[in-house]
Amino acid sequence: MKKIAIIGGTGGQGTGLALRWARVGHEIFIGSREESKACSCADNLKAICIDVACTLLEIEKSDIQSIKERVPEAKISGFDNLEAAKKADIIVISVPYSHLIPTIASIKEALTEGKIIVSVVVPLSTAVGGKATTLMYPWEGSAAEVIQSLVPENVQVIGAFQNISAERLSDLENSVSSDVIVCGGSKDSRKNIMELAKDIPGIRAIDGGPLQNARLIEPITALIIGMNIRYKVKEGMGIRFTYLPE
Ligand SMILES: NC(=O)c1ccc[n+]([C@@H]2O[C@H](COP(=O)([O-])OP(=O)(O)OC[C@H]3O[C@@H](n4cnc5c(N)ncnc54)[C@H](OP(=O)(O)O)[C@@H]3O)[C@@H](O)[C@H]2O)c1
Repeated sequence: MKKIAIIGGTGGQGTGLALRWARVGHEIFIGSREESKACSCADNLKAICIDVACTLLEIEKSDIQSIKERVPEAKISGFDNLEAAKKADIIVISVPYSHLIPTIASIKEALTEGKIIVSVVVPLSTAVGGKATTLMYPWEGSAAEVIQSLVPENVQVIGAFQNISAERLSDLENSVSSDVIVCGGSKDSRKNIMELAKDIPGIRAIDGGPLQNARLIEPITALIIGMNIRYKVKEGMGIRFTYLPE
């Protein structure tokens, strides 16, 4: 089981990922700028995991004894962003693009050799008061490459989960029917994150090659947001590639 920090883990995308991974037994450290906010978020997420397990196992929520015996406690705890990053091997960055640079600076002390950073960040134009259906184009090429430019060389940076909606992730009663393109890092670290993607029911992980390809993957989210509006898909559309060899 993996130790995963989610920086900005109190937001929509972070809580969705935390719930999905905690349910399969990974240890989750919710990070926030405020430790108390992270702790109360972690408590809420644990309660959601218990609720969903009770429904699936047909246990009354008042039956504390059965819950204790049959529902494994989700391993979710809350910390400030730096402490969360220190505790984990995999650090997911899940903050709005406009706050990316100061957020990476705030956890720099925790970015030591062997750690893997996963960027779910999409540089939407909302960062500069624009629309969520258009993108900003960072000088480095993509949000994931902005992160790479800020961290030590021995830290692996991966881009993934940028095209999955928070609503779909949080809907634990349903699987997430989508492909997740995983790019960047070494082959091994990419494989590691592809395994993590496959832990979410319904998700198929696809090797997206080098981190540069985040330039092509991040904009898909702006496209999806526009299509969600046109087709009135409140929970968000997903993407699927066809004819991929097994
Ligand atoms: N939502 C989606 O459906 C979705 C889908 C795909 C990709 N994404 C990407 O995932 C990332 C997170 O999305 P989200 O919807 O979860 O965002 P969000 O809810 O707006 O924000 C996530 C967290 O970022 C932290 N934050 C807010 N303002 C900050 C600031 N000034 N400085 C540092 N941290 C700040 C907050 O945590 P604390 O206040 O606890 O510190 C907040 O809970 C974004 O880059 C987004 O593009 C989102």
